[in-house]
Amino acid sequence: IKTQVGIVGAGPAGLTLANWLRKQGISAVILENRSRVYIESRVRAGLLEQNTVDILENLGIADRLKKEGLRHEGVNLSFNGDRIRVPFGELTQGRNITIYGQQEVVKDLTNAWLDGGGELYFEATANKIEDIESDNPKIYFEYEGEQSVLECDFVAACDGFHGLGRKTMPEGSYNEFTVTYPFSWLGILANVAPSSEELIYAYHENGFALSSSRSESVSRLYIQCENDDKVENWTDDQIWDELEIRLGTPGWELKRGPIFEKGITPMRSYFIDNMQKGRLFLAGDAAHIVPPTGGKGLNLAIADVKHLVDGFTAFYKDANTTELDSYSETALKRIWRAQDFSNFMTTLFHKHEEHGSFGYQLQKAKFDYIKRSKAYRTTISENYVGMPFEAFE
Ligand code: DHB
Repeated sequence: IKTQVGIVGAGPAGLTLANWLRKQGISAVILENRSRVYIESRVRAGLLEQNTVDILENLGIADRLKKEGLRHEGVNLSFNGDRIRVPFGELTQGRNITIYGQQEVVKDLTNAWLDGGGELYFEATANKIEDIESDNPKIYFEYEGEQSVLECDFVAACDGFHGLGRKTMPEGSYNEFTVTYPFSWLGILANVAPSSEELIYAYHENGFALSSSRSESVSRLYIQCENDDKVENWTDDQIWDELEIRLGTPGWELKRGPIFEKGITPMRSYFIDNMQKGRLFLAGDAAHIVPPTGGKGLNLAIADVKHLVDGFTAFYKDANTTELDSYSETALKRIWRAQDFSNFMTTLFHKHEEHGSFGYQLQKAKFDYIKRSKAYRTTISENYVGMPFEAFE
C-alpha cells in the first residue's frame, strides 16, 4: 500500500489529520490496532476548546456536535464550599467551550473519513517504522494474520502514550519531562440530568471533585481517589455521598441517578522537547500527556494536527519545508502553556497538602485572589477556552 501520509492511530489526532489532509488534496491511510467498536466506545474527556470546535466546523464534521454538544460560557470554581462563577465567554470576547464526549468526536470523524472513501485498517498492528531519514519511510504492520507494509512520504504517529511512534524516535533525539501525581480520578457516567448547567471544579478537604455532563440527561462526575484505588472499592452510594460532600454549597442539590460507567484515570504530566525526526512526526498523547484537570489533552492533540497540516500543505503545494521543520518548536509553545495550566488547575483543586500546611495556605490564597481579581479570572479564562493560534505566532 502506498500513500502520502501514513498515520498510525485512529484517535482524535489521527482521524482529524486524515480528514483535514483530504480537504487539502493530500492522501493518507490510517492504521489502528484496536477495533472500531473499541475506539468508538472508549470513554474519555469531553471538553472541546473554541479552536477545536472551529476546526471540526471548518472540516464540515460538526453537525451533530452543534446539535448535541453543550456550549458553556462560564465555569464554577469551589473551595471548601465557597463557589464562584468565572464567565470565561465574557472575559475572552466570546470564546467558549463545548461539552461533547471524545468518543462522539471519534465516531463523527470515523464516519466522515470512511464515507468519503478513506482507507482505515482496524485491528492492524503497526510493529516497525523504518527509513524515517529517507524520502520513503515504511510502516510494517500485521493485518488479518498477514504482514503488510505501508509506504509513504511521511509518518504521523498519533498512536498514544504507549505507541510505536515515540519508541521509534532515536535515543538522544529528545529529552523527557515528567511528573506523576500522588492521586487519581474515579470517574462516573450516570443517567441523571446534570446538577449544574456549567461545570464545577471543587477543592474539599476530602479531595477534588468535578461535576460535568454529557447531555441534558447524562451526568459525568469525578472524584479524587488513591493511585491504587479500584472501582470495586466504591459502592454507588459512597460515590454519590462523596460528591455531595465535596461539591456541596448552600442552596445547591446534587441529583443522583443510576451509574452506568466507572473508571479510574491516573494523573501525569509528561512531554518531550522534540516531536519529530526525519520524516516521522508525533502528535497528541504520543508526545505529551497532561493531567485531565482543565480538559486540555484532546485539544492539544487537535492543535498539533493543525500545525502538521500547515506543514504538509506547504510541502505539497509549494515544496516548502519551513513549517514542517519547525513543527515541534511551534507545537511546543502551546504544549508548555497547557502543561502549566493543567498543573495549576490540578495543584489548586486537589488535596495533596494537610490543612494548615504552607502548601494548603497557598491553594487557599490563590482561590481568594481569583475571587477578588478580574485579571486573574481573565488569565484562567483565556487558558481554559484555549488561546487562539495567532497568540503563539
Ligand atoms: C471533563 C473532564 C475534564 O478533565 C475536565 O477538566 C472537564 C470536563 C469531562 O469529562 O466532561
